[in-house]
Amino acid sequence: MTKIAVLVGSLRADSINRTFAQGLEKLAAGRMEFVYADLSSLPHYNEDLWANVPESVTALKATIEAADGVLIVIPEYNRTYPGVIKDAIDWATRPWGKNSWAGKPVAITGASPGAIGSAVAQHHLRTTMVTVGTAVMGQPELYYAFKPDHFDAQGAVTDAATKAFLEAWLASFGDWVAKTGK
Ligand SMILES: Cc1cc2nc3c(=O)[nH]c(=O)nc-3n(C[C@H](O)[C@H](O)[C@H](O)COP(=O)(O)O)c2cc1C
Repeated sequence: MTKIAVLVGSLRADSINRTFAQGLEKLAAGRMEFVYADLSSLPHYNEDLWANVPESVTALKATIEAADGVLIVIPEYNRTYPGVIKDAIDWATRPWGKNSWAGKPVAITGASPGAIGSAVAQHHLRTTMVTVGTAVMGQPELYYAFKPDHFDAQGAVTDAATKAFLEAWLASFGDWVAKTGK
């Protein structure tokens, strides 16, 4: 089973991005195990905190390091990705010489209520993830315009065309992890 660390860039309870991530998780069941990083208590990056490193930072780094690949699911905030994701990226690159991201296969996706599907935010995040040394899947891209009626009451994707597209995307991500992972 391929282990995937999942970072969701929204902390709110009714996040469409979390719903979307959980929909992907159900479609990947049996092939991928999703392990969600808890970003809810991650502090802003502060070098001084390494003196007494927060448990949330240690846990984040461990989750990334233990994974075969990382999936980042983001909303778009003012045409870029949310600050909680930037803090997660920065914490996991440190301490110097212990970059948890190094060489990790990564896929980026995300949802918005409108048609844009967090495309601009995803594009920004790609640039950052290349900078920190991950192997970012370039294609296929997945910009999801969230529709509640694509999901059933249990959170499974039921819309046939959406389901087929997401399954193909997950298969590509699985291939990418197998090809570029260690
Ligand atoms: C601070 C803020 C900025 C936003 N900026 C954008 C934006 O640039 N583009 C966009 O499509 N949606 C934008 N939105 C709307 C989000 O796409 C929408 O709130 C979405 O539901 C957030 O994702 P979530 O449901 O996973 O929390 C913004 C929302 C917030 C709170």
